[in-house]
Amino acid sequence: MLEVKDLASRYGRIEVLHDVSLKVEPGKILALIGANGAGKTTLLKAISGVQPISTGTITLDGKPLNKVQASERVKRGLAQVPEGRQVFGGMSIEDNLLLGGWTSSATNVQADLQFAYETFPVLFEKKDLLAGSLSGGQQQMLAICRALMSRPSVILMDEPSMGLSPLLIDQVFAAIELLKKKGLAIVLVEQNASVALSIADDASVMETGRIVLRGTGKELQQDQRVKELYLGHA
Ligand SMILES: Nc1ncnc2c1ncn2[C@@H]1O[C@H](COP(=O)(O)OP(=O)(O)OP(=O)(O)O)[C@@H](O)[C@H]1O
Ligand SMILES: [Mg+2]
Repeated sequence: MLEVKDLASRYGRIEVLHDVSLKVEPGKILALIGANGAGKTTLLKAISGVQPISTGTITLDGKPLNKVQASERVKRGLAQVPEGRQVFGGMSIEDNLLLGGWTSSATNVQADLQFAYETFPVLFEKKDLLAGSLSGGQQQMLAICRALMSRPSVILMDEPSMGLSPLLIDQVFAAIELLKKKGLAIVLVEQNASVALSIADDASVMETGRIVLRGTGKELQQDQRVKELYLGHA
C-alpha cells in the first residue's frame, strides 16, 4: 500500500504542493483530477522520487521512501507511466520493453514480454520496429507495458488518455482495469474526469496544489461542484 502524508514540494522558492495526503491499496484505483497546473504531475514525480519534497512522508508497505532514490523506488515496486508517454522513439518496441525490465530476472522478463504481447497484439506485430513509428495510442500502450516490466505493486499513471481517440481511450482504460484485477494499486491522474471517476474506487480533486475534495468515484460523480467544473454539466 502507498501512503502519502502532509506532503509539500517546491520549485525553487515557490511551493506548489501543500499538505497533500493520499492512500491507495492493492487492487484499487485512486483517480486524481484537477485543472491544468493544479500540481498533479508534480505530485506523481514527488512520489516516484524525481521531484524533491520539502515536508511530509511517503511510505510503501509501511516503509518510508523519503530518503530512497528514484531507481531504488522502482526496485521496491513503484512504477510511473509519465505524462506524454516518453517512449524511446529511436529504439525498437521490444528494446523499450526490455529497458523497463532492467530490475527483473530473465525468466520474469520473458513472462512479462509475453503478457505485453498478448494484451496488446499490435506491440507483438511491431516489436522490431522503432517505437517512434507507433501511433500515439500504441505508444501509450507501450509506456504502460514498459512500466509493468518492473513488476510494480503500485503504478502511477499521468494522463494516459491524453491525445487518444475515443476507441483507444477505451482500450487504455480496459487495460487499467485489467491491472486493477491483477491486484496493482493504481494512481490515475486524468483530465478525462468522467471516464476516470467511472472506474475509480476513490478519487481526489486537486486545486492549486491542494486536495480540496475526496470521496469514492461514485460520490464525486454526483458532486455538484465536480459536475460543473470537471464533468462539463450541471
Ligand atoms: N519545472 C518547473 N519549474 C517551475 N515550476 C513548475 C515546473 N513544473 C511545473 N511547475 C509549476 O507547478 C505547478 C504545478 O504544475 P504541474 O505540472 O504539477 O500541474 P498539473 O496538474 O500536472 O498540470 P497539467 O494538467 O497541465 O499537466 C504549476 O503552477 C506549474 O507552472
Ligand atoms: Mg500534468
